[in-house]
Amino acid sequence: MQIKNSTTLITGGASGLGHATAQALVERGGRVLIIDLNQEQGQAAAQALGDAALFVQADVTDEAQIQSAIDQAVEQFGRLDVCVNCAGIGSANKTVDREGAPHPLDGFEKVIQINLIGSFNVGRLAAAAMAKNAPIDADGQRGLIVNTASVAAFDGQLGQAAYSASKGGIVGMTLPMARDLASLGIRCNTIAPGIFSTPLMNGMPDKVKEPLVAMTQFPKRLGHPEEYARMVVTLIENDFMNGETLRLDGAIRMQPR
Ligand SMILES: NC(=O)c1ccc[n+]([C@@H]2O[C@H](COP(=O)([O-])OP(=O)(O)OC[C@H]3O[C@@H](n4cnc5c(N)ncnc54)[C@H](O)[C@@H]3O)[C@@H](O)[C@H]2O)c1
Repeated sequence: MQIKNSTTLITGGASGLGHATAQALVERGGRVLIIDLNQEQGQAAAQALGDAALFVQADVTDEAQIQSAIDQAVEQFGRLDVCVNCAGIGSANKTVDREGAPHPLDGFEKVIQINLIGSFNVGRLAAAAMAKNAPIDADGQRGLIVNTASVAAFDGQLGQAAYSASKGGIVGMTLPMARDLASLGIRCNTIAPGIFSTPLMNGMPDKVKEPLVAMTQFPKRLGHPEEYARMVVTLIENDFMNGETLRLDGAIRMQPR
């Protein structure tokens, strides 16, 4: 699929990996719908990208808000071609803490609700909109979904039960979604990032970040958000890539702590 003149919905597009993706796609001639809870940053991001960007404040877990955002993008740009799910939150709670208290269940549910159910909610509504597209090529392609998991889906650390479960769920739904959507000409892939330099990660104390950089084999640093964005570009442009989860992580294999 070509990026030029395509329209991509990006959740979490006001910050970090999603924001870098919005920039990379507009630089390449694409149009973007930025969906985020953060009104101020979302508006500023869209404004900086000019006419090729539209911001709609919406919660990924809310069916009506996401449907309305998709309708606005289709109205403004004519069609929706790509959905990139970047909205997500972290969490840090042990299953039983030092004082003997069990992991708060509402905290576990919140992470699953936003990271996993939010990604599926947006993906399914975006796919329904893409299904209405006329095919863009001889293969019959109509669209693409890119989810964002994490290396924590495979080697979650202490305190990451909720986060790893949410990201493992995203990995798990990637192939069945690709299979469900194959007859419609819609691909589905997932990126599992290692440790990237974004507000989410930069907000962590040095004692959390430094060991993670040490566990990253090469290059020995945090990933740049533009490197994530370039992987999205590759997934859009390479039509044979489907149903797969790609680690993008400098060969990190996270240790328990
Ligand atoms: N930064 C990393 O090292 C790293 C590593 C692995 C995976 N990830 C994943 O990548 C994704 C992006 O992370 P980031 O580092 O760019 O984070 P970030 O905090 O910079 O950006 C996330 C954005 O999502 C938005 N958001 C949160 N909840 C939302 C909701 N319910 N509805 C709509 N928007 C919502 C936030 O307002 C924010 O703008 C997340 O899913 C995260 O789990 C990040």
